[in-house]
Amino acid sequence: MDESDITTTKAWQDLQDHHQAMRDTSMRSLFEADDQRAGSWSHQAVDLRIDLSKHLADNHTLELLTALARQSGVEQLRDDMFNGVRINTTENRAVLHTALRNVSGRPVMVDGTDVMPDVLRVLDHMAEFSDSVRNGSWTGATGKRIRTVINIGIGGSDLGPVMAYEALRDFSQRDLALRFVSNIDATQFVEATRDLDPAETLFIISSKTFTTDETMTNATTARDWITTALGQDATANHFVAVSTNAQAVAEFGIDTANMFEFWDWVGGRYSLCSAIGLSLMIAIGKDNFHDMLAGFHAMDEHFRTAPIEQNIPMLLGLLGIWYGNFWDTRSEAILPYEQYLSRFPAYFQQGNMESNGKRVTRDGRYVSYQTGPVIWGEPGTNGQHAFYQLLHQGTDIVPVDFIGFVHPRHQVGEHHDKLMANMFAQSAALAFGKTPEEALADTKALGLPADVARHREFPGNRPSTTILAPELTPNTLGQLTALYEHKIFTQGAIWNINSFDQWGVELGKSLAKQTYAAMKDRDVTALGDASSAQLLSTYLELQDEAR
Ligand code: F6P
Repeated sequence: MDESDITTTKAWQDLQDHHQAMRDTSMRSLFEADDQRAGSWSHQAVDLRIDLSKHLADNHTLELLTALARQSGVEQLRDDMFNGVRINTTENRAVLHTALRNVSGRPVMVDGTDVMPDVLRVLDHMAEFSDSVRNGSWTGATGKRIRTVINIGIGGSDLGPVMAYEALRDFSQRDLALRFVSNIDATQFVEATRDLDPAETLFIISSKTFTTDETMTNATTARDWITTALGQDATANHFVAVSTNAQAVAEFGIDTANMFEFWDWVGGRYSLCSAIGLSLMIAIGKDNFHDMLAGFHAMDEHFRTAPIEQNIPMLLGLLGIWYGNFWDTRSEAILPYEQYLSRFPAYFQQGNMESNGKRVTRDGRYVSYQTGPVIWGEPGTNGQHAFYQLLHQGTDIVPVDFIGFVHPRHQVGEHHDKLMANMFAQSAALAFGKTPEEALADTKALGLPADVARHREFPGNRPSTTILAPELTPNTLGQLTALYEHKIFTQGAIWNINSFDQWGVELGKSLAKQTYAAMKDRDVTALGDASSAQLLSTYLELQDEAR
């Protein structure tokens, strides 16, 4: 027996047996068997109320899942992360995004050095700079105040600020707009700048490596746009950088005094609380940014200290494993009932899929089990009129997270209560469905032919978590985001994969370079396969015909 393969462990095999026993259990029967279930499966993590009652799980499921977590050493790996151990082994790096929001005053050591003085120094630098943009004392080359800030970055250097800016728009300084350019497709740059005055525009070039092709291509286009309008010397007033690579920043022509640094122990998709959040801080101000950090930290503390049985990120991670590895589900939906969270699913699409889309264990073996799910989602209620059909009656089971707020950002008429009524109703419909008898009765009542009844059945037993927060604020956004980060961590630890590297993006990047060189040389034979060579040759021929 291979002890290092989780599927051979007792905890895993017990879960397989338990799944066989649970296969036909219905959500209705779980509630009938325990009239306290709604209460006893509801938890509190900092300010978030988390209802786990609508899961296909009983107390024994939780015992087995927590045994799996203990046996997999999740707690040790978590402690190693917080203590600065180089748990990102393939890149030989510590994983310390938690230090970025460590508002406790405790030191955080990496190789015997406390990183907190550097973290606090950069936060002060960001605060000073964002104040100067917000109050107009930082001006463009002609002396005009900055009206639009454009963050140029991609992946983790884009999605975090995009998500959080959208989420916290209501806290932003409204006479200062924030825009984002990430795609190498020029359309995004052209559309983002078409109505702007270069003299009032500031670019933040955000790139951990400062080598990412999309970002450097967009940055070069932005520099041309500024210098064409304002002259060569304008770069200094219109560009700042966020990076770990001071040399490349200087070579691009940005004064390193206007560079906001972060460190190799901050993963791109975990970098929102680092200087990558500079654009966000400019939009919402330093106090709101600090409030967000405090929210992150509060959830970090919960994750760091709560026993597995009450540790909400761990329980969410375990339930995800329960479905993916034992019920064979393939995707999870994140469905925020809050328009401001419209980019939250996309943010955790990267967060989760780039972290846990892995097939090799930390000790270099191929996994023999499913790892990270496909993550997707849209805000409610729009999704209800689009893809919920499949959630309710499709052949796949998709575990769902509903996220809602008690108090709306905008109290307008009955909008919020109607929104929340929809969220509660959807979780009930997914869980409890409509039986064949119920479907027949209401089909008849509607005067429809009886054979329509089957189409009107809802199988139910479709699991969901409901997260209810008091109000969308910087603090609760921080809590929510850290909650998902640590859920991802828990799953990666149990699957014994490295959640903090992303080698899977490399092959495409190097082939794109090779293909671009072949295109410029007009040498399709330089491509390694016939299909790509043919595509490139067709592309070049059609371009030639159009000339
Ligand atoms: O897509 C791969 C990736 O390395 C992400 O992990 C990262 O967030 C993104 O590219 C951007 O990288 P950088 O900040 O170095 O430009």
